[in-house]
Amino acid sequence: MKKTFYITTPIYYPSASLHVGHALTTVMADAASRYKRMNDYEVFFLTGSDEHGQKIERSAKEKNMDPKPYVDDIVEGFVDLWEKLDISYDDFIRTTEDRHKETVHYIFKKIYDKGDIYKSVYEGKYCTPCETFFTERQLDEGKCPDCGREVETIKEESYFFKMSKYEKALLTYIEENPDFIQPQSRKNEMVNFIKQGLEDLCVSRTTFSWGIPVPIEEGHVIYVWFDALTNYISALGYGQKDHERFDTFWPADVHLVGKDIVRFHTIIWPIILMAAEIELPKKVYGHGWLLLDSGKMSKSKGNVVDPKILIDKYGADVIRYFLLREIPAGQDGIYSEEALVTRYNVDLANDYGNLVSRTVAMVHKYFDGELPAPVQTTEIDADLQKTAQQVYQKTTEAFEKLDFSSGFAEIWKVVNRANKYIDETAPWILAKNEEDRERLGTVLYQLVEAIRVITVMITPGMPNIIKKVQEQIPYDFINAKWQDASVWGALEPGTKLIKGGTLFPRIDLKTLDIPEEEPETVTLKEDISYDDFAKLDLRVVKITKAEKVEKADKLLKLEVELGSETRTVVSGVAAFYETDQLVGKNVILVANLKPAKIRGIMSQGMILAASLEKDADLEVISLSKEFPSATIVN
Ligand code: MSP
Repeated sequence: MKKTFYITTPIYYPSASLHVGHALTTVMADAASRYKRMNDYEVFFLTGSDEHGQKIERSAKEKNMDPKPYVDDIVEGFVDLWEKLDISYDDFIRTTEDRHKETVHYIFKKIYDKGDIYKSVYEGKYCTPCETFFTERQLDEGKCPDCGREVETIKEESYFFKMSKYEKALLTYIEENPDFIQPQSRKNEMVNFIKQGLEDLCVSRTTFSWGIPVPIEEGHVIYVWFDALTNYISALGYGQKDHERFDTFWPADVHLVGKDIVRFHTIIWPIILMAAEIELPKKVYGHGWLLLDSGKMSKSKGNVVDPKILIDKYGADVIRYFLLREIPAGQDGIYSEEALVTRYNVDLANDYGNLVSRTVAMVHKYFDGELPAPVQTTEIDADLQKTAQQVYQKTTEAFEKLDFSSGFAEIWKVVNRANKYIDETAPWILAKNEEDRERLGTVLYQLVEAIRVITVMITPGMPNIIKKVQEQIPYDFINAKWQDASVWGALEPGTKLIKGGTLFPRIDLKTLDIPEEEPETVTLKEDISYDDFAKLDLRVVKITKAEKVEKADKLLKLEVELGSETRTVVSGVAAFYETDQLVGKNVILVANLKPAKIRGIMSQGMILAASLEKDADLEVISLSKEFPSATIVN
């Protein structure tokens, strides 16, 4: 039986077109799928669109359209984008499809019949942009704790899902399956969240109608996240007549999601599955965000980057390579067109592209295009080969972990080693002496072989360029197996190489029409006098202790040394630092801020930190040099 691999992307909201940040998840999932296919897995790669909910209903209304034709238009754009980006998905699920509704009804009913969904009255807050319910306690100064926007008060008869019943079982599952939530930092966040206690979830709404009807009572529609998460099994036919795909591919090997929606995938989704007595997915991987220098990409800021424009300008492979290479595993990465072009010029045009064209040109110049046989190998050859083999191992490990950034960095070690090999062996000098002819032939063979190995390994990321390489070096890259990169010497001497065009022509940054990113207009607070400023007593203090605050996943309780005094400060930095990362840091304390009680703890001052809009990123301001405790900052 063939090994199977089931990978999913989130299903995107068709409330607007997708930007380059959305493309990141899908490109990662595509690279993983291609890599697994090269490893002989039977892959099922699912993506789709999340079409119900109040937000979509409202967006359609603003355009004076019915929701269905409204989403149809946008979803067409999604499909078109994925085609342009060479996304090799196996199925595209739309939550408005009948097959999906059938599964959602089936599972809702199953959980209801079991007694884990019950009717009650919901009274609380709802954030429509996030499609999320909150309790009063969870709000951040009365606003949505996720996006900072206004929430709406809701009181309606609703169906509730007994999440609380499964709290312990979920914690046990997470504990027993250490790889379930990746990367590790996200796992800690989720465990803390669950430990604060899970409340039953409201899973139906009556105040709007754009959703899947609750199967047991008219007038209610199913909560959009309950509906959306079910896509991962509705696309496989669960609860439908033909469920062969479900039998073959479930449980999913990995749900790839952005960090903002890890909570839905590691708490609500597993509990739905537990209640429905379905196996849980093996892994949820929460990747970081693609940010702009100026912060978050958002439609309201009007600074979203349209991936289609970039693809037309640079080609799909280049965008794919940039996304995979530039965003470190699990962390945020910064997008700018300059950074994209720099990667292109350095990695693709200069390092890889040139390696291919120089090598093919030399085989033509010295051997009439016919690949010579390796006969006289030396230590340098052995080193090149060793580098390739080590890189193969490390890239395999990285790709297995979905760490494409490290994987591609590894591959470029062979690219660089091969370029250095050209300088070391200086084929143009060997060509001058007839007695060096065998050595020259060996050198060129090794180079073409290095290119073969590199090209096999870049295939999951750049499925197009390999076709162009294949036109110059007739090796079947298109159907290559991953393992083909582990061997050395697979090319047949005598193979005729064909001279071709430049793979990646250099781009002159200066001639590029790169739209300036509008610097945000900064609205400052009212001017203050120096005397006002002087009222602040800012001091250097050392953090000596840091611990979590119970039932508050954002807060840490810090102890700082202010001269001979030890002070306690409660600080909202828990999502960005492990406790031991803070201890020992010299930071700046607003020392004369009136003490205030936060979560029952008296906080004596405030630590300065720089932070991006709502939870995107934060760094505590710290000094790199040692200063005596209580040094004045002004
Ligand atoms: N519809 C829900 C997902 C339901 S899955 C059962 C949703 N849709 S979304 O369109 O808002 O976002 C989809 C994905 O895009 C999320 O994983 C989100 O993290 C990701 N991204 C949105 N902006 C992004 C960046 N700037 N960078 C990287 N990923 C980003 O949430």
